[in-house]
Amino acid sequence: MNHHTGASLQNRIAILGSGRGSNARAILEAVACGQLSAEVALIISDRHDAGILEVAAAFGVPSSFVDPGDGKRGRISDEALQQITDQLLSDGVDWVVLAGFMKIVRNPLLRAFDGRILNLHPSLLPKYPGLNTVKRALEAGDAEAGCTIHLVDSGVDTGKILHQARVPIVSGDTVESVTAKIHAAEHLAYPMVIGRVIQQG
Ligand code: GAR
Repeated sequence: MNHHTGASLQNRIAILGSGRGSNARAILEAVACGQLSAEVALIISDRHDAGILEVAAAFGVPSSFVDPGDGKRGRISDEALQQITDQLLSDGVDWVVLAGFMKIVRNPLLRAFDGRILNLHPSLLPKYPGLNTVKRALEAGDAEAGCTIHLVDSGVDTGKILHQARVPIVSGDTVESVTAKIHAAEHLAYPMVIGRVIQQG
């Protein structure tokens, strides 16, 4: 399919991630099979050994590693953020998709893509922003967990919620088993919601 003749015009997305890249893979598979009308222009990681960079290579998507600096966990340097912002702008990216990106996004990236940055979070926000979401849900005795897809604003996991998917927590569940259920839900939901958001422009 020729993406430039499709109904959606602003469909160039970049994916930012720090981990395995299973959600990036799900997005790329949805694009490959025509379920998601988008073009993944670029994949950026703040970890040089992240699986998401291998996913990019497997799908022939340009990728780059951006050194986040040696700040605290969750913190990325001003230089790195500027570098990422410049890359996205010069690549003509319309939407920034965070898929397991473990750094907190702020300006200038936020300003450059205001309202056009999506995040995927492994909890039913506003419950459990931040880290160790599944462990916290299990410790609280919750009967369900899930994922949230939201727009990114200047807070941590606080932006406008676009979609949530729920998974049950049953007796015998562990962090690993619940995480696997959340991943499965994410892989279905994220490509769908990205498609919806792109279509709405
Ligand atoms: C996903 O489960 C996503 O919800 C989570 O990281 C995982 C990435 O997996 N995101 C966060 O925790 C963001 N704070 P993947 O690399 O296999 O797509």
